[in-house]
Amino acid sequence: MSRIVHVDLDERSYDIHIGAGGEIASLREGAAGQRALIVTDTNVDPLFGARCEAMLAGYGMQVQRAVVPAGESSKSLPVVQTLYERAVEVGLDRHATLVALGGGMVGDLAGFVAATYLRGIRFVQVPTTLLAMVDSSVGGKTGVNLAAGKNLVGAFYQPIEVVADLAMLATLPAREYASGLAEVVKYGVIWDATLFRKLEDKAEALQRRDLDVLEPIVARCCEIKAEVVAVDERDSGVRAILNFGHTLGHAIEKISGYGGLLHGEAVSLGMVFAAELSCRETGFASEDRDRLVQLLGAVGLPVLPGERGVRADWAALREAMRTDKKSRGQVPRFVLAQKLGAVVYDHAVAEDVAEQAFAAAFGGGA
Ligand SMILES: NC(=O)c1ccc[n+]([C@@H]2O[C@H](COP(=O)([O-])OP(=O)(O)OC[C@H]3O[C@@H](n4cnc5c(N)ncnc54)[C@H](O)[C@@H]3O)[C@@H](O)[C@H]2O)c1
Repeated sequence: MSRIVHVDLDERSYDIHIGAGGEIASLREGAAGQRALIVTDTNVDPLFGARCEAMLAGYGMQVQRAVVPAGESSKSLPVVQTLYERAVEVGLDRHATLVALGGGMVGDLAGFVAATYLRGIRFVQVPTTLLAMVDSSVGGKTGVNLAAGKNLVGAFYQPIEVVADLAMLATLPAREYASGLAEVVKYGVIWDATLFRKLEDKAEALQRRDLDVLEPIVARCCEIKAEVVAVDERDSGVRAILNFGHTLGHAIEKISGYGGLLHGEAVSLGMVFAAELSCRETGFASEDRDRLVQLLGAVGLPVLPGERGVRADWAALREAMRTDKKSRGQVPRFVLAQKLGAVVYDHAVAEDVAEQAFAAAFGGGA
């Protein structure tokens, strides 16, 4: 079985295919003779590179692979430059397709190259991490990091298709897999209380990576992201709700020096904090906060900074939140829950309230 989620963006609309196995439907016919460059990383290439290349060659395409070092440091302008040079070397023209085969790092990097090389060539996402399947491959944000901060250079650029082959998740390290589950839980909180309940019911099967359980859940997450992106493609309003848990999450990633903590782990801690703030500011029920903390723990995510050896110092975190690119006039903005499935965004919180919520959420575990 497989499912299709349609992302409705006028002439930039596309389908996301979710299932085990999977083909790139938009290239299966009519792409014979055209060139394709697969961009992937050093962990993913040995697992899936040859298979992806064989699939495109089977469509009659002339295929090459460009393999970048795994890790966030490849999401950089110097690596973009090497990919442009490779694109020229292998003769990518305006009819060519760039295929991102990997996690969110590869998707953001390759998407930016596709958006800018020859002012834009066709781009397909084949996400190989759970985070990339439910989040980064959907919605068209591409970009790279600068020394001054993450994702400071980029473009909105939609793929022509996303193919999420759930079988690829089997090789993902446990922490990376759980990190993706943080975004899954987030969708339940911001949009869909029924999804949240389902996650509670299926927490154990989810941890086992049961494909029958994963498929409808991944599809639902893609639907939610597609719906949000369809009303706010360029992130000037409601798309901000996707940042539930990310205000503190980004700050924790920053002070722990990117790499100590995975993105989803930081978001998990950020959601615990946001839930506590929501109880104080927007009428979120304390039982629902407790359910959220319980669910995050049940799917293998940290709910206290100490669980990942992070010393979360409030003064440093407050400073990091103030200087975040999403804060305004040095005042951090939060996405807060009113109830499961409903949030408000752009919410400023008084500093003493934030500090008290932090102490209540993390107490001795901070
Ligand atoms: N564009 C967006 O909207 C958006 C949204 C969220 C996050 N992001 C970006 O996504 C990136 C994080 O993505 P990520 O968590 O997927 O990280 P990642 O791409 O670095 O992948 C994580 C690790 O898993 C490895 N890997 C990938 N697939 C594998 C597989 N199937 N089996 C074994 N190993 C595998 C990778 O080589 C890497 O070591 C960040 O750069 C973040 O900024 C972008």
